[in-house]
Amino acid sequence: MRTVSKLTVVGAGAVGSSVAYAAMIRGAARHIALYDIAPEKTRAEVLDLAHGAKFVGATEISGGSDIAVTADSDVVVITAGAKQKPGQTRIELAATNARIMGSLMEQLLKVSPDAVYVIVSNPCDVLTMLAKEASGLPAERIFASGTTLDSSRLRWEIARRAGVSASSVHAMIVGEHGDTEFPLWSSASIGTVPLLDWTVNGERVFEQSTLDQIAVDVRDAAYAVIQGKGATNYAIGLSSTRIVEAILNDENAIIPVAPVLSGIQGLEGIALSVPCVVNRTGAHPIAETPFSDHERELLHRSAASLSEVAAGLRA
Ligand code: 2OP
Repeated sequence: MRTVSKLTVVGAGAVGSSVAYAAMIRGAARHIALYDIAPEKTRAEVLDLAHGAKFVGATEISGGSDIAVTADSDVVVITAGAKQKPGQTRIELAATNARIMGSLMEQLLKVSPDAVYVIVSNPCDVLTMLAKEASGLPAERIFASGTTLDSSRLRWEIARRAGVSASSVHAMIVGEHGDTEFPLWSSASIGTVPLLDWTVNGERVFEQSTLDQIAVDVRDAAYAVIQGKGATNYAIGLSSTRIVEAILNDENAIIPVAPVLSGIQGLEGIALSVPCVVNRTGAHPIAETPFSDHERELLHRSAASLSEVAAGLRA
């Protein structure tokens, strides 16, 4: 019976090293392994993380460019692949990263057949669909980090306008982790107050024009950061670590992630983010999540867009 929880992060670039760093600081796993095909870079990242061990809880840091370093993982977070260039969409990375994902999954499964796999590489939803097909894993055990990050961006945008803590904002982005994502406004609240009823100094804050602006700012947030610094890494590191914690601590936490859906809002065979119960067995979509007619239509629009991309990759 294993007693030590092992997280493997695949990819030692800005995102992967940030996931490992966030997991180390938050004490998300007792053992963190970093794997990448670049030996020097991976060794340097592992050393730089390990040199901080004194300042965090007991965490074993290891890694390298031999797939054996990933063996017996409980959770594997995959960040490997090409990243968006300024102005490039996540979908434009699909062909390149699908090839990388296919070969990675085959090698990883040989040494960690029982792990839960979280796909962060973009386009994470489409890559999840292909990786699930290639791996034969059940839907709950291989899913995309999806809109966990976008939902955190949404909560920040709402919190700063409402004058409350982001942890008191209950709102989610669902659908594609990408240009067709959208907020579930119909179920958003601040504390126990429906979002649309929130006022500051007696004035309603969230008029339709504000909601529309927030939705655009959240959808385009990554483009803005990539334009300025070449990549996003801190927030995706933290949001991915939150998912890892829910798995390793068997939390039954409700987080918007993207397993391949079956029978949710009439969808079949598409990986899209909806609120899921996340625990040690993986991600379980919540069928009862309320969608307005318009939100259901947007979800199906997200699905149609991803279906087309996935079909193109299978061709
Ligand atoms: C993000 O949204 C690039 O998908 C990454 O930050």
